[in-house]
Amino acid sequence: MISRLNVLQFLALLPATTVISQNVVHFAPASTNLNNLSFVLNGTGAPGIFNSSVTPNDEYGIYNWCNMPHVRVREYITPSESEFTLKYIEVIQRHQKRTPYNTNTFFKENIEWDCPGDGPVYYGIGPVGVAQNPTVVQWNAYTDQSNPFTDSVGPGFVGSNCAFPQITTAGIIDSHTHGSDLRAVYASRLGLSTTLDPSTFQIRVTNNQITSQVSGGLLHGLFPDTDNADALIQSETYDSLEPAYSCPNANQLFTQYTTDSSNWTLHLMDAQPLYDKLDAVSGIPLNDTAGWHTSFDHYYDNMSAKQCHSKTLPCSVNDSSICVTQEEANTVYRLGNYEYSYYYRDAPESTLYSSLHYGAWVLELVGHLQEQLQGTSKVKYFHNVAHDGSMAPLLGILQISEMVWPGMGSELVFELYQQKSTSAFFLRVLWGGQPIHTSLPLGANNSGVLDMIPVGDFFDYVNATIGTGSELFNNCNN
Ligand SMILES: *[C@@H]1O[C@H](CO)[C@@H](O)[C@H](O)[C@H]1NC(C)=O
Ligand SMILES: *[C@@H]1O[C@H](CO)[C@@H](O)[C@H](O)[C@H]1NC(C)=O
Ligand SMILES: *[C@@H]1O[C@H](CO)[C@@H](O)[C@H](O)[C@H]1NC(C)=O
Ligand SMILES: *[C@@H]1O[C@H](CO)[C@@H](O)[C@H](O)[C@H]1NC(C)=O
Ligand SMILES: *[C@@H]1O[C@H](CO)[C@@H](O)[C@H](O)[C@H]1NC(C)=O
Ligand SMILES: *[C@@H]1O[C@H](CO)[C@@H](O)[C@H](O)[C@H]1NC(C)=O
Ligand SMILES: *[C@@H]1O[C@H](CO)[C@@H](O)[C@H](O)[C@H]1NC(C)=O
Ligand SMILES: *[C@@H]1O[C@H](CO)[C@@H](O)[C@H](O)[C@H]1NC(C)=O
Ligand SMILES: *[C@@H]1O[C@H](CO)[C@@H](O)[C@H](O)[C@H]1NC(C)=O
Repeated sequence: MISRLNVLQFLALLPATTVISQNVVHFAPASTNLNNLSFVLNGTGAPGIFNSSVTPNDEYGIYNWCNMPHVRVREYITPSESEFTLKYIEVIQRHQKRTPYNTNTFFKENIEWDCPGDGPVYYGIGPVGVAQNPTVVQWNAYTDQSNPFTDSVGPGFVGSNCAFPQITTAGIIDSHTHGSDLRAVYASRLGLSTTLDPSTFQIRVTNNQITSQVSGGLLHGLFPDTDNADALIQSETYDSLEPAYSCPNANQLFTQYTTDSSNWTLHLMDAQPLYDKLDAVSGIPLNDTAGWHTSFDHYYDNMSAKQCHSKTLPCSVNDSSICVTQEEANTVYRLGNYEYSYYYRDAPESTLYSSLHYGAWVLELVGHLQEQLQGTSKVKYFHNVAHDGSMAPLLGILQISEMVWPGMGSELVFELYQQKSTSAFFLRVLWGGQPIHTSLPLGANNSGVLDMIPVGDFFDYVNATIGTGSELFNNCNN
């Protein structure tokens, strides 16, 4: 099913001077249990694994919120080596598992978090001979009852030495495994040694320190003989990776098809009995202003973080007989995935939203690929450590056929190949370690599978959907 995005309708809502020059076409996703509201509300079971980082080998590739599937030797499919040479890869991943975010609310519950010896680590490096190898300094979150303002940060902090958020020890172990799995596949194919060479490999993080925490574990797996690395980082005022650049038109469009649309609010109303139960456990009032009732994001984050770390589901601090049941948590997990499918794929406006919101990073990717075509860069591997808020709009731009909430460590790999006989360049995009299935009319027989497509097809799609840098800038701001 193809529905042309109603750009004109959107334009009519913007100031008269606004010019949206993109030719964005929304291709609807597949209909599955993920975006079927009847199943989401009235079905049963979790949409994947939510209580362990381990996915058994025989089902590797299924959704695992705690540790999403990534490229590994066991599942990797090598395109014909007599026909193609791998020239360059660009990886983008979400960080690995962590403690929940503190959103400054008075969430009261009985589950505690403890992070002894887990970091995070912060220190500066001095000049050679003076303090080149300074003492490693890690943060230890604490509270002092004499500070009368302590409660205002929320009880999630009280009595815990964790930062909310921080990557947990288990998340650092997953980061290391992720790095060594990538190394096992790509080091030989790209000719990378056990030592990081910054002229052929680059790593990039966001201004949120949890992406640097992941990089420590990841790089040790990727380059076991390197213990010191530079990570690229853009200013938090225009970082394309998080993304943090300003795009008011994207924000306006998003509000229009979510908060302001009955298509969105319907599922929140239908789920009111579930909200009543969750609120009875958490003590969050129905009229809270911190976002507990505008989506299932906070409840999802709260419960999945506990379950990924083998903690129990919470009970009320006032009445230990009122607890969240596993089936209620599973319904929250189905709702969370339904919400991401709506935000980034089901809503017809979602493709334009994603291309405005994440277009800058995609233009950088295209720039990196073009440098390879022109032979002007020695970089063979560029690794980005990012967030669900980065992966999701990128999957939206790629118009993935089955959208999920990108879980911990979820990964996209853009592989650029050169055909030996013709010197032509081809692109393969891996999601969860396998060629991504999209709703785009690209790939063999327009199947939508991005598996060795002429790289020019991808450039044309990006040009049509995002436009040039100056077009994107104008479309965001004018
Ligand atoms: C879910 O089931 C209830 C009770 O059977 C029903 O009233 C409701 O319409 C169903 N919701 C959806 C979205 O199918
Ligand atoms: C959606 O789910 C309901 C409940 O499981 C099912 O009866 C219905 O056939 C599904 N709809 C589609 C389009 O798959
Ligand atoms: C994890 O959840 C599954 C059901 O989704 C259950 O079968 C399994 O026993 C659970 N594992 C642990 C370690 O709790
Ligand atoms: C629960 O989640 C909320 C919102 O993400 C967060 O503010 C709070 O710290 C969490 N609490 C705990 C202890 O998990
Ligand atoms: C709801 O979605 C339908 C189908 O995509 C669309 O035609 C309609 O305009 C949307 N309604 C609102 C209020 O956004
Ligand atoms: C527990 O009871 C206190 C006092 O009545 C109340 O302020 C608080 O909101 C309750 N907490 C929960 C989680 O229900
Ligand atoms: C929420 O409602 C309660 C009473 O029902 C009221 O005391 C409180 O001020 C309200 N909070 C907000 C943020 O409106
Ligand atoms: C494309 O379609 C043709 C005709 O249906 C078929 O023979 C061919 O195998 C298909 N190619 C691929 C790669 O699926
Ligand atoms: C980009 O698309 C526009 C039309 O939308 C076209 O005029 C232009 O030539 C294209 N640029 C490239 C580099 O393909």
